[in-house]
Amino acid sequence: MNYQLSCPCLFGLESVLADEIRAIGGESLQITDGRVTFTGDARMIVKANLWLRTAERVQILLGSYPASTFEELFEGMHRLPLERFIGPKDAFPVKGWSLNSTLTSIPSCQSILKKAAVKRLNEKYHITWFEESGPARQLQFAILKNQASIFIDTTGAGLHKRGYRPKANEAPIKETLAAGILQLARVQEDTNLIDPFCGSGTFLIEGAMLAMKMAPGMGRSFVCETWEELEGVSLRSLFSEERSAASQQAVKEGSFTAQGYDIDPNAVELTLQNAQRAGVSQFVKAEQRDIADFQTDLSKAVIVCNPPYGERLLDMIKVEKLYQTMGKVFIQRKFLKYYIISANEDFEKLFGLGADKRRKLYNGMIRCQLYMYFKGGVPLHKKALENLYTARRKKG
Ligand SMILES: C[S@@+](CC[C@H](N)C(=O)[O-])C[C@H]1O[C@@H](n2cnc3c(N)ncnc32)[C@H](O)[C@@H]1O
Repeated sequence: MNYQLSCPCLFGLESVLADEIRAIGGESLQITDGRVTFTGDARMIVKANLWLRTAERVQILLGSYPASTFEELFEGMHRLPLERFIGPKDAFPVKGWSLNSTLTSIPSCQSILKKAAVKRLNEKYHITWFEESGPARQLQFAILKNQASIFIDTTGAGLHKRGYRPKANEAPIKETLAAGILQLARVQEDTNLIDPFCGSGTFLIEGAMLAMKMAPGMGRSFVCETWEELEGVSLRSLFSEERSAASQQAVKEGSFTAQGYDIDPNAVELTLQNAQRAGVSQFVKAEQRDIADFQTDLSKAVIVCNPPYGERLLDMIKVEKLYQTMGKVFIQRKFLKYYIISANEDFEKLFGLGADKRRKLYNGMIRCQLYMYFKGGVPLHKKALENLYTARRKKG
C-alpha cells in the first residue's frame, strides 16, 4: 500500500531534505515552502523516521481540499477515509495552524475538525462515545491560503529530538538545521570538521553521524511504534528490521575527525558528554579555547559554526569585535572551507571577506544567512559591486 507522505522542514532546507528523501527511495516528490511531499509504503514511513536528518516529522497526508468556510472545513474532513488509520479505541486529538486564510481561529478549526472526524468514525463504527483509550493518531491540519491539508503524525516528539542532547548550552542550534548545513558543506567520511564555537557540540555530533552514515533516529522511539498496525502491517516489526539494517550500514572506522573549541569550559564538558550519549565520542574532541587563539595544522578542514549573534546592544559591540577576530584568524587560513551561520547582516563587512555563496536559512524564527567560503572568498570591493549589480538586475 502506498501513501502520500509529507515532511515539514525549516525554510531554506527543502532541497537538502528532498535529496535525503530520494536517497532512501521516496518517489514523486513535490517541494513546497517548508515541506516535501512524496510517496512511499509502510516501510518508507519507518525509514523516513529513522533516517531523515533535516525533516521535522513524518506525516501521512490524508487529503487536501479548499476550505474558506467552517462548512467546507467540516465536509472535507468528513469525506476522508479516517477509519483506514483510526481504530474504534484509538485516540485522535486534533491540532494545527492557519496562515493567510479566512479561517483564523485555531480553536474553532480544531473543534470543527474533531466533530467531523467523530461523525465519520461514528458512521463507520456505529459508536457514539469514543473512549480514545488507545495509542494516539494525532490529526494535524494546515490551512494555507484557504486550502486545508489533513495529516496523521507518525513521529511524536519532533525529529530534532535525537536523544543525545538532554541539556544544551545557551542558544544551541537545532539538530535538523545543523544537519542541513553539514550536508551543504559536504561533510563526509574523510572530513576534518572543526567548530570553534561548539557550545553543546551539535555540529560535531551531527557531523560524525552524517560522515559515519549513522541513522539519526537510532537513539529514540516514534509514536507509530505504539500503533497496533497500519492497515494490517506491523510497524513495530518493520522498525526492528530497519534498525538492524541501519546498524549494519553504519561505517565503523574512517578518517573523519571532529574538533570543537569553546571559551566556556562547561560547553566543552557538555560537548564531550553529548558526544558520548550519541555514540560518537571516538571521533569528537573538544577543548577550551578563545577564538582569538584559533589554530590548526590541518591543510584540509571544514569549519562549521554559529557564533553568537548578539541581540542586545552591549552584546552587539562584543559580537562585532568577535567577527573581526574571526576574520583575522580565519582569513590567514583561506585554503580551509568555512560555513558560518549568522543573523547579523553586516557579517561579511566585519569578517573582512565576502562569501563565495550565501543561503537564506531560518534558525527557528530568526532569519539568518549561511555564509559559505569554499573558494577563498570574494574581496569586499568586488562583493560590493556584485551586490550593486544584483540590486540593479532585480530593479530591472
Ligand atoms: C550560539 S552558541 C553555539 C551553539 C552551538 N552550535 C550548539 O549547538 O550548542 C555560541 C558559543 O560561542 C561561545 N563563545 C562566545 N565567545 C567565544 C569566544 N571568544 N571564543 C570561543 N567561543 C566563544 C559561547 O560560549 C557559546 O557556546
